[in-house]
Amino acid sequence: MTDIPQPDDGTSVKANPSPESQQGSTTDTGAPAESDRNSLTLGADGPILLHDVHFLNQMAHFNRERVPERNVHAKGSGAFGVFETTEDVSAYTKAGLFQPGTRTEMLARFSTVAGEQGSPDTWRDPRGFALKFYTDEGNYDLVGNNTPVFFIRDTMKFPHFIRSQKRRGGNGLRDNTMQWDFWTLNPESAHQVTYLMGDRGIPRTYRHMNGYGSHTYLWVNAAGEKFWVKYHFHSDQGVEGLTDADATRIAGEDADFHRRDLSEAIDRGEFPSWTLSVQVMPYEDAKVYHTNPFDLTKIWSHRDYPLIKVGTMTLNRNPENFFAQVEQAAFEPSALVPGIGFSPDKMLLGRAFAYADTHRHRIGANYLQLPVNRPRVETNTYTQDGPMAYDHRGDDPVYAPNSFGRGYADSTGVVDTCWETDGEMVRQAYTLRERDDDFSQAGTLVRDVWDDGQRAAFVKTVAGHLLGGVTGDVLERAFAYWKAVDADTGKQIEDLVRGEADLGAPGAQPGEAKADASEPIVESDTH
Ligand code: HEM
Repeated sequence: MTDIPQPDDGTSVKANPSPESQQGSTTDTGAPAESDRNSLTLGADGPILLHDVHFLNQMAHFNRERVPERNVHAKGSGAFGVFETTEDVSAYTKAGLFQPGTRTEMLARFSTVAGEQGSPDTWRDPRGFALKFYTDEGNYDLVGNNTPVFFIRDTMKFPHFIRSQKRRGGNGLRDNTMQWDFWTLNPESAHQVTYLMGDRGIPRTYRHMNGYGSHTYLWVNAAGEKFWVKYHFHSDQGVEGLTDADATRIAGEDADFHRRDLSEAIDRGEFPSWTLSVQVMPYEDAKVYHTNPFDLTKIWSHRDYPLIKVGTMTLNRNPENFFAQVEQAAFEPSALVPGIGFSPDKMLLGRAFAYADTHRHRIGANYLQLPVNRPRVETNTYTQDGPMAYDHRGDDPVYAPNSFGRGYADSTGVVDTCWETDGEMVRQAYTLRERDDDFSQAGTLVRDVWDDGQRAAFVKTVAGHLLGGVTGDVLERAFAYWKAVDADTGKQIEDLVRGEADLGAPGAQPGEAKADASEPIVESDTH
């Protein structure tokens, strides 16, 4: 006999020698619990009794331990940290967190998009880059990705896009044909798909990827002057990607590879950091810029709008409890603070609705009262009650306006984060401008930003993906799609898929092409 504890006899003191663990537990209502190991039965061999309330509560609560996983970005990892504004950008925004010297506590959550909670961290997919700043003016959430662009430019398409990347209705399997069908029928996806299939498509770790606000936002300074901005968080660790081969191997060996890396790095005291810079476009430029500056499938040339440094984000604290602080974290692009506003980006405006709504469903109507989500400033909102309401205002007036001392907001007139727009109601994703085609920026990325090794690896990645079951019209459209991005590259992809070239042909692997792969892309004219 070994001294392995016998689980059910209730006397196996040897099994749990630590003194703390021997302090008794309580029931959920705080009375001493009689047993966490043996249910109450009628005789040792008899049935469980219904009035073993502690047992019933344990079972019932267990049944309710999970909240629904996020509909997208279900698999993710989080850490707390601080953002410090090291430069003076007060000429562009009055937002308190971006005033020189301000330090703001924050939370970051990084994620994959299409996979479910247990899915491998190293699948090829964009990565979420969600930030919550607990500012003195309320929560500011910047919910971005590791790419500066996105697949679509109208929120109306988002549910369809996501369904095409997830699982088929019939067999519950993911399906490359479905993905390419959607992408090729929505050619505005070309820029983002190029990015995704390139050497940044699978980050080496969460620490080795950049983050982007992606959308255009509005900044307003103390004088009421307005500017359009785009956020760029550049990894101070450098940008590194994984090869397909390594990513596939790691997916089998450790599905939580990125979660583990982030958590262990912080435990070791190696705090990852990112430098925030912004591109700033003068308000009036937006009316005449050659590309629609609100179209999320496009970037702004860095030559036209160079990066302006703002400060540094450092992640220095792991969550103490994953469920409470990461799973129940609720990020919402609608959480803005004075000095920052929306833009006419149709994706951003759709997101202004989507997130708070899904949180009410996923976590509950009072999700903002949870410690990880609650603003660090006192709130005075007239929303009240609902399931699990914890905060309350006693007998304060429950309506506004009122004559009994509870304040209310009453601004009227033009808002400082406004923009002007033109007349009729239409269904149209922007008025086309000189350089608003769907393929040019993707073509520039392939031709002018990447080197030969990166291009070769890209061709292999795309061909490999198409060979994962894509046939018929969808395959033909995929060849046309890539030829529209770049004729040569498209032809190489077609040749590889048609078996006219060797898929195993040596080509530089993503991540190996350049030691400092981040710089040429980030600082180039285009990305
Ligand atoms: C998560 C909707 C576009 C970044 C989510 C969630 C929803 C959603 C419902 C789940 C939130 C939760 O359950 O907590 C949408 C809609 C979009 C859109 C309707 C269409 C416009 C985007 C874009 C980006 C983005 C363009 C990046 C630029 C994220 C991130 C998360 C997320 C990072 C995960 C947040 C977290 O870590 O909790 N999105 N999304 N989404 N989305 Fe979007």
